[in-house]
Amino acid sequence: MAWTYHVIPDLNEEQLSRWQGILEERTGIYFSHHTSILQAGLTQRMREINCLDYDKYYQRIMNGKGRAIEWTALLKTLTVKETSFFRHQEAFNYVKSHLFNRLLGGELGGENSIEMWSVGCSSGEEAYSLAMIANDCIEGLGVDSYFGVTASDICLSALAEARRGNYADRKLENVDAAIKSRYFQREQDCNVVVPWIKQRVCFVQTNIINMQSMPVSNMDVIFCQNVLIYFRRWRQKEVLDSFVNQLKPGGLLITGLGEAVDWQHPQIQRVQQKRVQAYVKV
Ligand SMILES: C[S@@+](CC[C@H](N)C(=O)[O-])C[C@H]1O[C@@H](n2cnc3c(N)ncnc32)[C@H](O)[C@@H]1O
Repeated sequence: MAWTYHVIPDLNEEQLSRWQGILEERTGIYFSHHTSILQAGLTQRMREINCLDYDKYYQRIMNGKGRAIEWTALLKTLTVKETSFFRHQEAFNYVKSHLFNRLLGGELGGENSIEMWSVGCSSGEEAYSLAMIANDCIEGLGVDSYFGVTASDICLSALAEARRGNYADRKLENVDAAIKSRYFQREQDCNVVVPWIKQRVCFVQTNIINMQSMPVSNMDVIFCQNVLIYFRRWRQKEVLDSFVNQLKPGGLLITGLGEAVDWQHPQIQRVQQKRVQAYVKV
């Protein structure tokens, strides 16, 4: 049978507001500022399952058989997953110097371990980058410390990709040669993160607007870039406030430059750095 490209008209105002409402309620993503992402993601999925009517598809997501599975599939086309290794180099440099100081100053506490969290980790590059710099610090100083990275995302397909830790050459184009040779091994046409780094990264599905069940506490570093930009201001603040409870005293929170710039919290001090948006729990 010949493949046909079905034209789906744009959402009308009523449909748009209904879809925006349910998507924001479930993910926190405020699609009013990103209607083209909503339109494209929605129609991509509707075409995949040959359901070409917005209202029928809405009913399917809300009450249909297999709605939980369909919701997961829709998240795959709706979420923006752009990421890269050491995406914001200055932020990773800052984390590295923070860890060096904590290790040198013996500030890790009795367990002597570094616990980090990559929030909205997408296909894993951010989480593995954190693991690599923690390993560099520990080895560089020759200290006997442990590190682990918890990496979370709402999108199951992104997490599956992240767990594979398997990256095409173009994904490593900007990665330093020393990092490449130390932390990746060649398998067929791909670059795979070495198993002893993979073992230190635990990928879990979590919705950050509903974090009660998230098994993280006492974090040394929380790294959350390019996730909150899709949320409304009040929700960005709510999420950032909840991170404070999950940080150790002296722990570091990194957000993307320009994200929730007016956020303040009595237990948090903004670090005086122009190229990095970082906060320390006092
Ligand atoms: C643009 S990527 C950012 C990846 C990485 N942090 C970076 O800066 O390179 C945004 C990620 O946030 C995830 N995300 C969006 N809403 C979320 C939510 N409510 N809870 C958890 N993850 C979410 C998306 O699935 C996506 O993988």
